[in-house]
Amino acid sequence: MRFSTAFSTLALLAAPVASQNTTFLTELVQQLQSLGLTSFINASTVVNQTSTGQSLLAELGSGPQTVFAPNNDAWAGALPNVTSSAESLTELLSYHVVPGTFNTTATYPNTTIGRTLLNSSDVVFLEGNKRQVLAWSDLSGTVTILNQNTPNIVVNSTTVGNITVHVTTAVIDYPGDLEAALFANNLTSFTSALQNASLLDTLNRQHGVTIFAPSDAAFAAAQQNLSAAGSNATVLTNVLRNHVINGTTVYSGNLIELGGSNVTTGAGEGLSATFNSTGGFVTVGNSTAGITTPDIVLWNGVLHIVDSVLLDGDSDESAASSAVSSANAAATSSTTESGPIGFTPTPTSAGNVATGSSSSSASSLEIPLSIFGIVLAGALGI
Ligand SMILES: *[C@@H]1O[C@H](CO)[C@@H](O)[C@H](O)[C@H]1NC(C)=O
Ligand SMILES: *[C@@H]1O[C@H](CO)[C@@H](O)[C@H](O)[C@H]1NC(C)=O
Ligand SMILES: *[C@@H]1O[C@H](CO)[C@@H](O)[C@H](O)[C@H]1NC(C)=O
Ligand SMILES: *[C@@H]1O[C@H](CO)[C@@H](O)[C@H](O)[C@H]1NC(C)=O
Ligand SMILES: *[C@@H]1O[C@H](CO)[C@@H](O)[C@H](O)[C@H]1NC(C)=O
Ligand SMILES: *[C@@H]1O[C@H](CO)[C@@H](O)[C@H](O)[C@H]1NC(C)=O
Ligand SMILES: *[C@@H]1O[C@H](CO)[C@@H](O)[C@H](O)[C@H]1NC(C)=O
Ligand SMILES: *[C@@H]1O[C@H](CO)[C@@H](O)[C@H](O)[C@H]1NC(C)=O
Ligand SMILES: *[C@@H]1O[C@H](CO)[C@@H](O)[C@H](O)[C@H]1NC(C)=O
Ligand SMILES: *[C@@H]1O[C@H](CO)[C@@H](O)[C@H](O)[C@H]1NC(C)=O
Ligand SMILES: *[C@@H]1O[C@H](CO)[C@@H](O)[C@H](O)[C@H]1NC(C)=O
Ligand SMILES: *[C@@H]1O[C@H](CO)[C@@H](O)[C@H](O)[C@H]1NC(C)=O
Repeated sequence: MRFSTAFSTLALLAAPVASQNTTFLTELVQQLQSLGLTSFINASTVVNQTSTGQSLLAELGSGPQTVFAPNNDAWAGALPNVTSSAESLTELLSYHVVPGTFNTTATYPNTTIGRTLLNSSDVVFLEGNKRQVLAWSDLSGTVTILNQNTPNIVVNSTTVGNITVHVTTAVIDYPGDLEAALFANNLTSFTSALQNASLLDTLNRQHGVTIFAPSDAAFAAAQQNLSAAGSNATVLTNVLRNHVINGTTVYSGNLIELGGSNVTTGAGEGLSATFNSTGGFVTVGNSTAGITTPDIVLWNGVLHIVDSVLLDGDSDESAASSAVSSANAAATSSTTESGPIGFTPTPTSAGNVATGSSSSSASSLEIPLSIFGIVLAGALGI
């Protein structure tokens, strides 16, 4: 009778915390156990051994959240290097918690982006020390986690108070660097072009970057135009810099939010985005490309695959550097979003609103006892 053990421990642990809703916590424990998430519960036990882990556990349940909970088979298939240490397990688990309310039937075309609790400085290099995002899609009623090495879908869901638990078939991988993403997506021509222009390392080092990466087919189609400029390295470099937004991570939702306005590319040109029933398109100068795969999340930004090369070799260096300055200034006043990025849903009937507006993560850390601490207590039989 794990559940009753959990319940008695709950009363004990909850004592110093006036704001704990024991009815809610009891319900959550019951739901997680009935979902059979014993390995997830065990992982939380290990996480509780580090101070970062304790902060993470304290943050759980402090407001509306979606928790992606890998099932037992998923944990069995997880890479040992990720699960062997408390530190890496803490990083991993923090990538499975997304503050905010997500109405999965009201997403942007095919992609929802939520900001998780993962902010470890060894695996996240976003502008303004923002926390890493997770991308998922909800097509034909199946929620699929995007950008994964192992196919990963949601097979069961439950709601307890403010928390939605989505049971997944694999542990979610957090994003790696640009080179890994280019390789995984077969973007070999773009990779070579960036290497030849000495831009690959630069892009890897930046905190906050958006990259529109033409496919190999796009480069093949543009070969004639590119070789016409072939002898002029400045023009070729500008073409590549016009595929980049320097200092700002712009997800597909943010592109939609732009409406008619422009963002400035790394070469200082205006980039606009349009969306219609065919899909999403970006334009620089006279060149338009269709977005074929949006929201490939990088540890320092995001990459969108496009179906043609944006053939603009112009630049405006002062516009480029002022865009970077503005991006840096905006990043220092960064806040923690909750709810889908680039999207403001309407209030739900329960009154929970994901406004996309800022909320202080510090205040949510003030709740000293975690719901998961209590779940763990049950699993440990203490
Ligand atoms: C406590 O949680 C229960 C179940 O989720 C909910 O019905 C109740 O309104 C909550 N009470 C408070 C004071 O939040
Ligand atoms: C989904 O979870 C419920 C409990 O919330 C459980 O009764 C049901 O068997 C689960 N379904 C699957 C397919 O795991
Ligand atoms: C749900 O979150 C709100 C804050 O957004 C909080 O006031 C409320 O007490 C929470 N409800 C439960 C049951 O935890
Ligand atoms: C674990 O190992 C895999 C495969 O070698 C690697 O891709 C991944 O980055 C490693 N993860 C961590 C957290 O070290
Ligand atoms: C990359 O190319 C390989 C070999 O042609 C193929 O199996 C794989 O599906 C491709 N990956 C993507 C993301 O297109
Ligand atoms: C390269 O193109 C730029 C812009 O058109 C031009 O200013 C520059 O003189 C060219 N350089 C060479 C070596 O042709
Ligand atoms: C982005 O801006 C920084 C700072 O101005 C600069 O060093 C870097 O080369 C720029 N990156 C690109 C791709 O233009
Ligand atoms: C959507 O916009 C693109 C780019 O402007 C255009 O080529 C395409 O024809 C448009 N599709 C529709 C259905 O309007
Ligand atoms: C959304 O996904 C469906 C199925 O993969 C695809 O047919 C459609 O073109 C996608 N829509 C956009 C806007 O990318
Ligand atoms: C926005 O960018 C587009 C595409 O580069 C350009 O045609 C347009 O002039 C720009 N608009 C402004 C106001 O800069
Ligand atoms: C989710 O969004 C859809 C479409 O906007 C809406 O019809 C539905 O009522 C929403 N559901 C909730 C629970 O808010
Ligand atoms: C988690 O760690 C804290 C601090 O060491 C401890 O007070 C608490 O009992 C632990 N909870 C569980 C369930 O292990």
